[in-house]
Parts: sequence; C-alpha cells; structure tokens
Amino acid sequence: MLIAPSILNANNLKLDESIKKALEAGITRFHIDIMDGHFVPNLAYGPQLIKDFKRSYPMIEAEVHLMSDMPKTLVPAFAKAGADLMLLHYEAMDESQLLYWLDYLHSSGIKTGIALNPETPVSVLEKFLDKIDQVLVMTVHPGFGGQGFIQESPEKIAEVKTLLAKTKRRISVEVDGGINDQTAKLCRQAGCDIFVAGSFIFSKGVVKQQLAKLEEAIK
Ligand code: DX5
Ligand code: ZN
Repeated sequence: MLIAPSILNANNLKLDESIKKALEAGITRFHIDIMDGHFVPNLAYGPQLIKDFKRSYPMIEAEVHLMSDMPKTLVPAFAKAGADLMLLHYEAMDESQLLYWLDYLHSSGIKTGIALNPETPVSVLEKFLDKIDQVLVMTVHPGFGGQGFIQESPEKIAEVKTLLAKTKRRISVEVDGGINDQTAKLCRQAGCDIFVAGSFIFSKGVVKQQLAKLEEAIK
C-alpha cells in the first residue's frame, strides 16, 4: 500500500516545506499533476519542477500525471526531466500513439501507467496490459484539486482488478481525486494499491496527522 501526495493544492510558494513534511512522515513517492490548459481547463507545472525535485530528492519517486493531449512535446520533456513513472491519459491520444509512448517510456527506463477518466470504460485497457505497470482510476473529473469523490468509483476499481487478473504481470491500481480517510477505505476494500491525495493531506497544515489518518484507513 502506498500513499502518493499530490502537491497541486499545496501553497506553491511553500512547496518545499510541504514536501519535507510529507517526507518526514515517511512518504516515498510524490504524484505531480501536469495540466496543459487544453486537455483539462487548468494549468499546472513544467519539467523544471521535476528536475528540481529529483535534484533535491533523488531517492524519492516522481510520478508524473500527464493531463495533456500534447504527448509529442511533453512526454520526452518530462522523461528528460527525471520522471520515474508517467501516467498517460487514454482519452488524450489515439491508441497507436499511446502504444508508441508507452514503449518510448519503457525503453527510457521509466515506469508507465494509463489514466482513465470517470466515463472511460475499463475494457479499453485490455490491449495495453503488457505495456503498463499501473492503472490510474480517476475518481473525479481531472483538472482541479478539492473535488468530491465519484461514488461509483469502487465498482470501477473492482472491474479493473478483474481485468488485471487476466495477466501474470504485476500491475498496481491507483486512485486520484477526492481521496480522504473515508473514500480511501472504500477504494482499499475494492482492491486499490496506491492512493493519491492532495487537499486532504495539505490543506490543514498538519501533514503528519492527515497522513496518519489515511494510513490507518487503508491498512
Ligand atoms: C486532479 C488531479 C489530482 C488532484 C487530487 O485532476 O489529478 O491529483 O490534485 O487532489 P484532491 O486530493 O484534492 O482531489
Ligand atoms: Zn493527479
């Protein structure tokens, strides 16, 4: 079980402070949201942030959640910046492009995942099972932190688990959006392995306590 904090809603002028607090509480991976103002109606972060993050914390995994339909420009840029794992949205490109970029990432030594918007059916994953290390089930519509968890999400997670049982490869299931101690518990019961949380962890200024609540909920 893994918690990957999203710094999207943390105070941008105090990012390092927030990151340090999470690291002190034992976090080993951060989820960094990239938004292009086109695939989603918001903007967030560039490759420089990943570069600086990896320079300061080389042992901590940088998971890049690429909410963009410009893979040609952005996948190589974030790969070069030091991403350890990159999540590409199924809806952001056609299937042949997605296959191409998943291969590109693996051959660059970067772990891969496919992110699914709430309305995207689980069955689309089938032809990518030998190319991914992770599935990201979006539990809100991507674009903003602080939204409410979509209640039907646990059933979708269970569906992903059923599909993944078809492969011998170890593929993790991750959730993102509206995760708090209550919703995390529901996702855990449905078989989720990795939990992204932003506002629940960073909005109250008591990072350690919030992380402890999440850990308790998913153990
Ligand atoms: C939403 C982002 C999420 C978001 C999570 O588009 O992908 O990672 O920052 O934030 P919370 O936990 O506040 O929903
Ligand atoms: Zn995200």
